[in-house]
Amino acid sequence: MLQLAYAVPAPAALTSAAAVYRSLNDGPPDADGLANSRAFMVQRLQAAQQLHDELPSQLSQLGPWMASRAFTVGMEYQAYLQSRREGAPRRFFSNQSHALYFLKHAAPTKLVDGAWLYGLLARWDDPDFRPLIQTYLEELGDGVPEKNHVLLYKKLLAAHECDNWHELPDTYFEQGAIQLALAYDADRFLPEIIGYNLGYEQLPLHLLITAYELNELGIDPYYFTLHITVDNGSTGHAQKAVQALTQLLPRFGDSASVWQRVRDGYRLNDLGACTTSIISGFDLETELVDIMAAKAHTGANMHSDYCRLAGRSINEWLSDPQQIPQMLAALETAGWIQRGQPPENSRFWRLIQSERAEMFGVFSAYEQQVLRDWIVTPKRVPSFRARQRSLDTLGLHQTPRQGAPRGIVRHHAQDNSTSPLRQLEQQVATLGSKQAAVQLLQTLMTPAQHHRPLGLMATRMYRQLIN
Ligand SMILES: [Fe+2]
Repeated sequence: MLQLAYAVPAPAALTSAAAVYRSLNDGPPDADGLANSRAFMVQRLQAAQQLHDELPSQLSQLGPWMASRAFTVGMEYQAYLQSRREGAPRRFFSNQSHALYFLKHAAPTKLVDGAWLYGLLARWDDPDFRPLIQTYLEELGDGVPEKNHVLLYKKLLAAHECDNWHELPDTYFEQGAIQLALAYDADRFLPEIIGYNLGYEQLPLHLLITAYELNELGIDPYYFTLHITVDNGSTGHAQKAVQALTQLLPRFGDSASVWQRVRDGYRLNDLGACTTSIISGFDLETELVDIMAAKAHTGANMHSDYCRLAGRSINEWLSDPQQIPQMLAALETAGWIQRGQPPENSRFWRLIQSERAEMFGVFSAYEQQVLRDWIVTPKRVPSFRARQRSLDTLGLHQTPRQGAPRGIVRHHAQDNSTSPLRQLEQQVATLGSKQAAVQLLQTLMTPAQHHRPLGLMATRMYRQLIN
């Protein structure tokens, strides 16, 4: 029989998701941190209880329910494709900066991908937990850097210089904070984790459309196409989620109350910002104004008084970020920006992007894309070759085609007895039991660690040991 731990009462004051996220993003919390994240989870579960869900009332209906949803999503996607063939515009992304805005705002969630399952690694010798552990290992790419979901997303953000996400509003941290809070409190929130996983791992329509439109915009969609295959309802994570629930639910005593907690966990998926709300929250001009306002602070005293616009110095314009919309309008009026034309026709653009540009390096690739799209609006999207998908090996010379590593010791470590990888191999080799080895390895497979060289290696070793 699985022991059930019940949640503590919610504290009166609301806990910030961003604060919880930051406190858990570096690794396991101390006692105070755990109490804080637990309080956050209790609050979020209370919020989730107010929501509606479409889960069937009977466990036995779960398989047909999932199959029916997958069928509907497939039909809706075919209808979407047909509409595109008939000339309909993109449904999600109005231009490339819209898509990059989405990548940036989804970053706090995507960079802890799979975290909610971390706490189950300790149950490696219980066959009923295997579907969930396998799902976690697959999120980690089985320790292969080119397949590790967090590394893939980091690479995607870096390619477009979208990694400036740390100061986003609280709502963008909510899903990530939930996932991290579940990661480090698995014994207390086990039914909720099973329910959360069930909701997270169903293949949604928006994932299919996102992948299609990113590709269309020349942005590598691999992170998203990968999830289309791993989440499939036949053999993928969606099916494993149902299998785990079916195996584990009878092992709790009171099935009615546990089923309710599973439902609450499922509903946690609907809190905070989600794919569709991020996409609909984009406004090109607002994003440009925000970018320029953020620059204004550092640029306010960097210009000489000879730089004047509409009778005022640039330093005066930048002294108050509230004036940015008027400043953009003044740039247009003065002819520094030629809207609706190629950006190269605009003097302001040439200050940013030209040989010996005076403001070269001031705007990131993402910020330049926003400015470019704003200048040329409405624009035709240029088609250009999708970016190469391969990742650097991060010092671990392995490719997906090479498959899972065969030997724990001989295949991984650099030939250097002082390297951390080599030391880990030696340490594991000296441990007296499989249990001790697994316990050590799982400390390196936290959401904070699993995508680093040592964590990747620990994942590969864990994978071999439990098989
Ligand atoms: Fe993933």
